[in-house]
Amino acid sequence: MDDLHPETLAPASILVSAGRQPRVPGAGVNAPLELSSTYVADGPVNYARGGNPTWTAFEEALGALEGGAALVFASGMAAIAAALSLAPEGGVVVAPTHAYNGTGVILEDLAEAGRMTVRRVDISDTAAVTAALRGADLLWAESPTNPMLEVADLPAIIAVAHEEGAIAVCDNTFATPLGQQPLSMGADVVMHSVTKFLAGHSDVILGATVTADTGTGRAAHERLLHHRLIHGAIAGPVETWLALRGMRTMHLRVERASANAAELARRLTGHAQVERVRYPGMGAIVAIEVPGGCAAAERVASSTRLWTHATSLGGVESLIERRRRHPSEPPTVPENLLRLSVGVEDVEDLWRDLDGALRSLESPAT
Ligand SMILES: Cc1ncc(COP(=O)(O)O)c(C=O)c1O
Repeated sequence: MDDLHPETLAPASILVSAGRQPRVPGAGVNAPLELSSTYVADGPVNYARGGNPTWTAFEEALGALEGGAALVFASGMAAIAAALSLAPEGGVVVAPTHAYNGTGVILEDLAEAGRMTVRRVDISDTAAVTAALRGADLLWAESPTNPMLEVADLPAIIAVAHEEGAIAVCDNTFATPLGQQPLSMGADVVMHSVTKFLAGHSDVILGATVTADTGTGRAAHERLLHHRLIHGAIAGPVETWLALRGMRTMHLRVERASANAAELARRLTGHAQVERVRYPGMGAIVAIEVPGGCAAAERVASSTRLWTHATSLGGVESLIERRRRHPSEPPTVPENLLRLSVGVEDVEDLWRDLDGALRSLESPAT
């Protein structure tokens, strides 16, 4: 049975088996939901801002999946704030022009406060990223980007970041560890909005970091652990437990959602009411641009019945949203862009609903 060592398991087996209880007679097969704020003295953890068995189970599973040491945070944004604290005060951060808009806002806030210099760059343009990385302290990669779906050459830009002495962080929310594992491409830190595909049911807000098993990665892990303990943006045990339960079926959900997305992207290409399709060739997010600008896009989003007009992504249910309705989205994101988070419903039903909403643009608005 030596060949069934956890490090040799495929992602599907890791998702199902990691973070379980030790197999002793009578033990539950699932991790416990531990709701204590404090513990009997002289154990490994004395207070629940520092540790919780439910966190440990989740972190074991996510760490095994990404190939590093995971830490769970209260939200993706809490994990982003913690990871950005790895840049020195006054340091230079290189980030995608079209990073998730919350990332854009926190970077702007930090720059305005004089805490860092931020260089925004097209993350798919390796030459531009290379130029921007000169003298940088931290590379913030996101690939594919939200919502423009640009894809970075991660191994190349991470290598340049390291040549410059910068720490390389990658928001892996869109690709998921099933699509790509940035630590294996040299990244020091991976960050996740667990809220999305990992938890997968649109019922929790949660975030995580995963650090590489290298000198830089281990040092980052210690700093992130300290940040979580002292800044206190800790995950609720209930949310963590739900996220772990959701993760058990992530491979099945992502496989189905990705197949649906590929088929919809194929059918949308050439649709009379679609000007442009953005689809990175993997994952479950597709973006389309419709003729008629902002009003037409809003009309499509509010006329679907199976697709829900809502923000967020990565759940079992299909969501549709015009991203520029958020004022913090950069003006380079087209007004008529609709982000589609494709779920696990029947693809023909998804198509009938979406096609019908798009065809409604053929008749005048009432
Ligand atoms: C790519 C990406 N990163 C980070 C976040 C922030 O995560 P959370 O909403 O869990 O704080 C989001 C949320 O939409 C996201 O899409």
